[in-house]
Amino acid sequence: NKHLLSSEDLTADDIATLFATAAEMHDVQRREVKKLPALRGRTIINLFFEDSTRTRSSFEIAGKWLSADTINITGKGSSASKGESLRDTVLTIASMGVDAVVMRHGASGAAQQVSQWVDAAVVNAGDGTHEHPTQALLDAYALSRHFGDGGRLGSLEGRHVVLVGDLTHSRVFRSNVITLTRLGAQVTVVAPPTLMPAGIASWSSSAGFATSYDLDEVLPKADAVMMLRVQKERMSGGFFPTSREYTVGYGLTRDRLRVLGPEVPICHPGPMNRGLEIAADAADAAQSLILEQVSAGVAVRMSVLYHLLAGEGTA
Ligand code: CP
Repeated sequence: NKHLLSSEDLTADDIATLFATAAEMHDVQRREVKKLPALRGRTIINLFFEDSTRTRSSFEIAGKWLSADTINITGKGSSASKGESLRDTVLTIASMGVDAVVMRHGASGAAQQVSQWVDAAVVNAGDGTHEHPTQALLDAYALSRHFGDGGRLGSLEGRHVVLVGDLTHSRVFRSNVITLTRLGAQVTVVAPPTLMPAGIASWSSSAGFATSYDLDEVLPKADAVMMLRVQKERMSGGFFPTSREYTVGYGLTRDRLRVLGPEVPICHPGPMNRGLEIAADAADAAQSLILEQVSAGVAVRMSVLYHLLAGEGTA
């Protein structure tokens, strides 16, 4: 593929190829090899209209460790703040001769739209409430490493992964469901009725995942649990249930951590609302993969950039 716009773009074989390359990139990440020359002479623009800590910095590190020239543009510091349109912004950037645009935007479908305007490869780094495909890749990669042996990647086939949280506003949930089910995982998504997306019944039956409103019924059967952020900034109609009710019903509290036991890995894509969807005890537990997810993000994004810009075929 020329772009990575949606998790739907990747078959199970594509994901396996990306993961194999990501595993090799870990050598660079361990700093045993300082840099690879693979993308020397290539220019990557990180174009972020929404805030980011992990995604933007890990794409920048990934590009630099592959010897690409990387440039960051944010909505606030660019002429978009003076009213320049998205189309004019990306056409302006593309005219400078960039090879890839890694973009985050508040509008669902923005990356797809931009891919129709420019010749450069476009990577969706989060578009509104739609998708975040590299997050899903790094989550699945971190879980594969966890279930593997001695640093080797393990299979997610048949593993029961439970995603919990504000599903209505979560692009991470959408991409994760696609990627995890493609890898053969058994997926259950849990949310209060007010944060369960419209139309999920038909999607879950066609894609083969389960839905539940009852975290306490699902949690004891989990092989891995992923807590998702409550995105109050996207709730123009207010937050219901209240924060307190949410934590009682859907938070990974200290009590639920005890039910989960010490072996089940805990994921969160970040940033976390500590004390709301996840207790500090859970976030900082020995079984937490949260920082492994961040670390995996660099290797996986190196792999994605490599396959888009240097290799042939996948991503
Ligand atoms: N998970 C994630 O996308 O984090 P950032 O918003 O910090 O990039």
